[in-house]
Amino acid sequence: MADTITITDNRTGKQYEIPVENETIRATDLRKIKVSEDDFGLMTYDPAFMNTSSVKSRITFIDGDKGILRYRGYPIEQLAENSTSFLETAYLLFYGELPTKAQLEKWRLNIKTHSLVHDNVKKIIEGFYREAHPMGVFTSALAALSTFYPEAQNIHDPEIRMQQVYRLMGQVPTIAAWVYRHSKGMPYVYPDTKLTYAENFLNMMFNTGTAEPNVNPVLEHAMTVLFILHADHEQNCSTNVMRSIGSSHANPYAAAAGAAAALSGPLHGGANEEVLKMLDEIDRLANVPDFIKNIKEGKGKLMGFGHRVYKNYDPRAKVIKKLAYDVFKVTGSNPKLDLALALEKIALEDDYFIKRKLYPNVDFYSGLIYQAMSFPTEFFTVLFAIGRTIGWLTQWHEHITDTEQKIARPRQIYIGSGERNYVPMNERK
Ligand code: SDX
Repeated sequence: MADTITITDNRTGKQYEIPVENETIRATDLRKIKVSEDDFGLMTYDPAFMNTSSVKSRITFIDGDKGILRYRGYPIEQLAENSTSFLETAYLLFYGELPTKAQLEKWRLNIKTHSLVHDNVKKIIEGFYREAHPMGVFTSALAALSTFYPEAQNIHDPEIRMQQVYRLMGQVPTIAAWVYRHSKGMPYVYPDTKLTYAENFLNMMFNTGTAEPNVNPVLEHAMTVLFILHADHEQNCSTNVMRSIGSSHANPYAAAAGAAAALSGPLHGGANEEVLKMLDEIDRLANVPDFIKNIKEGKGKLMGFGHRVYKNYDPRAKVIKKLAYDVFKVTGSNPKLDLALALEKIALEDDYFIKRKLYPNVDFYSGLIYQAMSFPTEFFTVLFAIGRTIGWLTQWHEHITDTEQKIARPRQIYIGSGERNYVPMNERK
């Protein structure tokens, strides 16, 4: 049997052989299906890209039905369990192989030596109200970085590209921590190159002026695992934006700022913040049945549940749920955990959710840990962005070095007015 499909156009009776490759057909192959010679030819219509692949990628594999997530072939559970540091997983994502000791050291050094932020970035952060939403400040600071490194525009130079990868990986945690410190009116803590990635971040966030960093190792491990779990997730909304902006050959800071803006949406990375707001709104176990009833009547969504790809339990949510108990041993339990567990139990047994294959996703339990670690709720999505920065950069790099890619410019189905003539003001009704 040939790797083709045969399409019969019943409008003309003509038949067309369309090649099948990687279980897909090329949409442009449909253009030859026409009713008349001056026809544009068939297009596909796929709002929200429910069934459209726009790239070929070697980075992350997801099987949504089986709840499988692998970075460069390595199951996320194994990386969460065994990865000695976030930068080890970040190296794996970017280069495609687990690093040797020497490779990891070089990668770590390159990133650490770029973790200092230009002093003027403080002025950008301080230009915002203390109460400004951290994602608004964080996204703005990311975009501003491009003005400090104009050479980043030369995206075709491999060395310059890597310089920006090191800078973003190094500076994103610093900017995130300084956004928080500004909101609290606290002095900035500078990066400490002796610390691990997660330890350095937590120290810049919460150091209260002690000379020596004193990050609890359980919390450092939890932060490392959370960064690993958030690092990449194939063609999610924000990564699609990173690739689309990158396709116009804009610099990587502009692309990362766009990706962060997309991530801030409550249906995407902003969901971890929405989960805590939802749990606050439910407030007590006695209110759970009524809350679920409202959801089933279409009044709102169970935040932290459901996924475009996973139609099974998000493997990241399983790891995070387990991690929560380790963190609570140090921080004390989060009283909202019982509410979350009750919601999950009901949802997993209720036909409304089962029929729609709605399971906890990465955002359902992560917020409980972040809150227990003293992060403010509106800061949760910034934490998501810190982990995801390596995913955005890796996907961006794959995109701009993919010879098959061009500037992203989808088509449309025009359903507006036909041609009509201008009407002078005094003749308008
Ligand atoms: C992330 O794409 C990624 O990989 C994202 C991410 C990553 O790592 O980058 O995994 C991170 O964004 C996780 C998702 C975080 N968002 C939320 O938790 C918000 C709540 N979830 C939903 O908004 C929703 O599930 C989405 C946005 C995640 C997915 O939406 P889809 O794929 O567009 O599905 P849909 O809205 O078409 O829903 C299908 C049905 C609908 O019911 P019917 O119209 O068929 O009756 O399921 C219902 C929806 O109403 N539904 C929900 C629901 N999610 C979907 N009903 C109640 N609560 C929900 N959470």
